Amino acid sequence: MLLFATSDKGGTGRSVTSSNLAYRRAIQGGNVCYVDFDFGSPTAGAIFSIDELKHGTVGAGVHDYLQGHASEPERHSVWDETDREELRVRPDGAGELVLYPGDSDGGEFPGDNHTIDRCVDLFLRLESEFDLVIVDLSAGRSHATEIVMAATSKAELATVPWRWIVFHRWTKQHVLAAHSLVHGERGLLDTGASWRHHHARLMSSIRFVRTAVVNPDGSELAGLKPTQVRWLRRIDADLHQMAATLRVGRMNLLGSVPLDPVLQWREQIITDADTATLDIANQRTVDAFNELAKRSSEESFIPVFDPAT
Ligand SMILES: Nc1ncnc2c1ncn2[C@@H]1O[C@H](COP(=O)(O)OP(=O)(O)O)[C@@H](O)[C@H]1O
Ligand SMILES: [Mg+2]
Repeated sequence: MLLFATSDKGGTGRSVTSSNLAYRRAIQGGNVCYVDFDFGSPTAGAIFSIDELKHGTVGAGVHDYLQGHASEPERHSVWDETDREELRVRPDGAGELVLYPGDSDGGEFPGDNHTIDRCVDLFLRLESEFDLVIVDLSAGRSHATEIVMAATSKAELATVPWRWIVFHRWTKQHVLAAHSLVHGERGLLDTGASWRHHHARLMSSIRFVRTAVVNPDGSELAGLKPTQVRWLRRIDADLHQMAATLRVGRMNLLGSVPLDPVLQWREQIITDADTATLDIANQRTVDAFNELAKRSSEESFIPVFDPAT
């Protein structure tokens, strides 16, 4: 399974959520690899705490490989190479967790036929080795997205399962932007059509994930004034309404990740020690990552019940 992670804007939580999803799927027993296609901002090394890769690699990253400057992109085992001790303890039954870093000196570049062929090759090889291949794309209407749309339209990938996740924050502007990235001009559906993707197939492969969501009824808002909580509830209900109208509602939702204090302050993997021993991250956040890891691998994306819409 190829999973393409995208978002209309930067700073949506795409990379942090995708990395945690990858980690949880590996703990669940899947062999997972994470391919950093965010050419301008390859942050996965930092999130997995591989210090040497915190700004991408100075060697042969994905960007160099796609441009033909390297015959193979570098691969790194997160379990073996992370600098965080508790991540180095690979839990019993966990699968592989491999990172293909971006290049530290990378940037957006338009793909040509060679780039697309190399991308097809890479996807074919990774898909046959791993249960889940997460491709973290640059934000917005990027060259990276165009390359992926082109590659997945090729006959060689016709039988390979792939899906798209659009990450967005739970605000009016982000919901509008997520809608536009899918349905708007030069959005995913438009770009897909130009590569002759089957409209219905592409449409049914796209799901949304809401990040850093504040629950207006959650205990963490206990310090707010009743007027503030009432206002939040009203805004939340309006957002649900708007999201449903824009096809970003529960029918197309893969999951929601609550706002977590740890992620608010640092881009990282949340381990079980962070919830159980240190008690700094919320169990709800880990539950959400676990759910996303399961749902993203299910035969069909299963919409979740969201009572507010
Ligand atoms: N569930 C969350 N709760 C709080 N902060 C979050 C959450 N998810 C992500 N963040 C924070 O949001 C910021 C942007 O996340 P990042 O994954 O780098 O975004 P993107 O890849 O979309 O640019 C980071 O500081 C990250 O730690
Ligand atoms: Mg990112």
